[in-house]
Amino acid sequence: MEKTLAIIKPDAVERNLIGKILERIESNGFRIVAMKRTQLTLPVAEGFYYVHKERPFFKDLTTYMCTGPVVLLVLARDSAIAEWRKLMGATNPKDAEAGTIRKDFAIDIEKNSAHGSDSAENAAFEIAYFFSQTEIQE
Ligand code: CMP
Repeated sequence: MEKTLAIIKPDAVERNLIGKILERIESNGFRIVAMKRTQLTLPVAEGFYYVHKERPFFKDLTTYMCTGPVVLLVLARDSAIAEWRKLMGATNPKDAEAGTIRKDFAIDIEKNSAHGSDSAENAAFEIAYFFSQTEIQE
């Protein structure tokens, strides 16, 4: 079983979409092996997205991620990283396929409702960034 980090972003939490997104996760073969609802601070968001620190959207992205509560999740299944990215859809909801979370729920490329790790290396970093080993039960 592979693990990935997922985030339900502030725009989705604000619109009461936590339940709908969790339902899609569970009905698509993932097990939720850790979960917490919290609000990020700017230093925490900046540390999490440090790989994007040179990008023009870094300041807006990190500020946006602190505008309201988020739900942090560790998801497990075979090919969890790729399967969660498939279920989310393209980063920009305009490019996302029908039936994906971002197509159905996202507002724009910034308020795109969900995050997922993009590689095994980043998944390991991102899971450890938010969860200790004892918080993850398979
Ligand atoms: P996420 O999967 O959380 O990873 C980085 C985030 O940056 C991405 O989703 C988008 O919400 C956000 N972002 C904002 N602008 C851009 C952009 N031009 N290209 C890629 N990501 C962007």
